[in-house]
Amino acid sequence: MFRVNIHCEDIVRYIRFYAITILSLNMNIAPTTFATRLISWQKQFGRHDLPWQNTRDPYAIWVSEIMLQQTQVTAVIGYYAKFMQRFPTIAALAAASQEEVLQHWSGLGYYSRARNLHQAAINIMTFHDGEFPQDFETIQTLPGIGRSTAAAIASFAFHQVQTILDGNVKRVLARHFCIEGWPGTPAIEKRLWTLAETLLPEQDMVAYTQGLMDLGATLCTRSKPQCPVCPVNTSCEAFKQSRVNQLPTPKPRKAMPEKSIQMLILLRGNEVMLEKRPAKGIWGGLWSLPELEIDADSAAVVLDRFGTHTPAHASPPKLSHAFTHFKLHIHPVALHLTQPKMAQEMPGQIWLSLEDALGAAIPTPVRTLLANVQKINV
Ligand code: ADE
Repeated sequence: MFRVNIHCEDIVRYIRFYAITILSLNMNIAPTTFATRLISWQKQFGRHDLPWQNTRDPYAIWVSEIMLQQTQVTAVIGYYAKFMQRFPTIAALAAASQEEVLQHWSGLGYYSRARNLHQAAINIMTFHDGEFPQDFETIQTLPGIGRSTAAAIASFAFHQVQTILDGNVKRVLARHFCIEGWPGTPAIEKRLWTLAETLLPEQDMVAYTQGLMDLGATLCTRSKPQCPVCPVNTSCEAFKQSRVNQLPTPKPRKAMPEKSIQMLILLRGNEVMLEKRPAKGIWGGLWSLPELEIDADSAAVVLDRFGTHTPAHASPPKLSHAFTHFKLHIHPVALHLTQPKMAQEMPGQIWLSLEDALGAAIPTPVRTLLANVQKINV
């Protein structure tokens, strides 16, 4: 059943909120729309103090929306502060190297977001005189900005009447209108866009857009939704039909492909060798560890490519990393190079102290491996 998790002062506010709603209905005041109820609820119960709120700076809003695309608010907050401190303006971001931008993104995942953000900043400097564009269609020409993100920026920064439709909002609307079918299906998504547009208010877009986000994040959650205190429960079809827990229809499950590889931790004193990943593809542009097929003879390959070596006392434990489309099992092999083949680094290779490597633009599993190497002091 539903779990109601609210404080005493919230109860008072809820009673006031619903008393006003019922009173206005009884007094034959025009029935409140989805938007008016959501806006009024957002103003009383929504989030107001997130670091990217209470500004109309499109750059600050844009950065937050990109970080929040695949990452929870709590994980974003620390990264956001550091990113904005180092790159406070579009010009500062455009002038930075991709390497440094990726370094500030290291650990957030989905690195194409950082590469696109950087490229878009360069495009704004080159084609838009350094000003974030206001035209809704033009915003969507920037790399990494789709329709929903463009709408969030346009409504928060420019108060335009545009609807968002991210994963949370899809859930809210699939329930509200009792829409069957996985919302990732193009036909269902198209229907949800149309429905979302019908709900738009004429004004108060900041509270409305934030209200949609807040409702999805705090009440209309995937599990244990708090329908009894939802501001739009009176018009929610799924609530009426007791089908909230069945909607939205889940994504059809496919077996997740899996891949196993070896990762070489090549040590030279306190230094480790990193290789730059190709610009495109997984971890594009990040520093990582050399990889070998799982059944490759790592000792022979290292002798051939890197020089003589001795096994480290211990390798850090195996670990797995889930990407959107597959799962990667990493088998680390730690070796000390006794006579490195090349005195100089090859292009795309770098030797860094473990400490510096941990501060570089590296993917999360590589960070875990190197932190373990540091801990066990192989
Ligand atoms: N998720 C996406 N955009 C957001 C925002 N502006 N505030 C909170 N969560 C969000």
